[in-house]
Amino acid sequence: MHTVKGRTRMDAVQPPIVAVIGDLIRQVPGTISLGQGVVHYGPPPAALNVAREAIANPDTHAYQDGAGMRALVGAIEDKLQRDNGIEVARGTRVMITAGANMAFVHAVLAITEVGDEVILPVPFYFNHEMAVQMAGCTAVRVPTDDRYQLDVEAMRAAVTPRTRAIVTVTPNNPTGAVYPEASLCAVSRLCREHGLYHISDEVYEYFTYGKARHVSPAGFEGASSYTISLFSLSKAYGFAGWRIGYMAYPEALADAIAKVQDTVLVCPPVLSQIAAVAAMEVGPAYTRRHLKPLAEIHDIVARELRALEPLCTVPPADGAFYCFLRVNADADAMEIAERLIREHRVAVIPGTAFGVADGCYFRVAYGALQKDTVAEGIGRLVGGLRALLGR
Ligand SMILES: Cc1ncc(COP(=O)(O)O)c(C=O)c1O
Repeated sequence: MHTVKGRTRMDAVQPPIVAVIGDLIRQVPGTISLGQGVVHYGPPPAALNVAREAIANPDTHAYQDGAGMRALVGAIEDKLQRDNGIEVARGTRVMITAGANMAFVHAVLAITEVGDEVILPVPFYFNHEMAVQMAGCTAVRVPTDDRYQLDVEAMRAAVTPRTRAIVTVTPNNPTGAVYPEASLCAVSRLCREHGLYHISDEVYEYFTYGKARHVSPAGFEGASSYTISLFSLSKAYGFAGWRIGYMAYPEALADAIAKVQDTVLVCPPVLSQIAAVAAMEVGPAYTRRHLKPLAEIHDIVARELRALEPLCTVPPADGAFYCFLRVNADADAMEIAERLIREHRVAVIPGTAFGVADGCYFRVAYGALQKDTVAEGIGRLVGGLRALLGR
């Protein structure tokens, strides 16, 4: 058999870690996964009902408007105004994509040239680094502080003439940190001063606990002309498999974004959009209903993991459904993650996937846990880490 040889742009890109861990999980039946960032609930029943009816309509099976169906774009515009303080009428456009990951790729392709730089606070969401590299750009890693909060001065120091954008994710994957308005404002000002885009990933916008509140940077005075905001129905509405996300972006990028959309998606999946309209009609009350039990699970996870101190440090995680624990011992994160699955039947994601090169870190995802599985899952993790790290 003849194989075509040669290097490609993908050689420098890390393998998709969730799939790697997923393969290991399949080898060890009965493993409790604290790996993938998913919620335990599905879409609102109203969304499923309209989708069932829409199958009979021939229009459902045809190409439709590239930017998204008018009914969905309209519902999203209302939501952006209501929940995010983003005025769509004033120079902001909406594009529906097949998930927020695609929206991020659209944004990077639309605003960069090969060789440009995009600043990512570390730990980052791995697909962001992967997308930047696939676009032929450099992901510039900037550290956060010991509570995983933004270090705006470190970001400032990282800006070069090739910098095109700064990315923030709040509430954060993988750390669960929620950034306060003041630090988002400082990042936004930095972008304005240097003529950069601020790419703001807000897929966990509704997932905050206690006193933490989500703030949308595009709502800051004058910021909408350089802020690209990314959202998703995957988590909020249990829609992960329906692949619906969207971006609110400055009008000046409309032609560039339309070129990417037309080339990679043509139009967002029609059946999913019809279901999404119904989900948006149900509104964030749906998410909030599921957030109550999730907040209890958040508290249990935080309490149980604290038992690992001083072996591990667990900074506050008031958002999304992740904790990012730092192991205060010399150990290889991937090796420990593999042994946690094989020997203790519990899966977490090693911190190396999120760009932390020094030290041993793990992301713990608890969005899919229920009250009856949380004790068992976290119990295995705590017991496993103690056994493997010898304390
Ligand atoms: C920060 C962040 N952005 C984007 C996504 C992808 O969301 P979607 O399913 O809408 O592509 C995820 C999924 O885990 C995420 O954690």
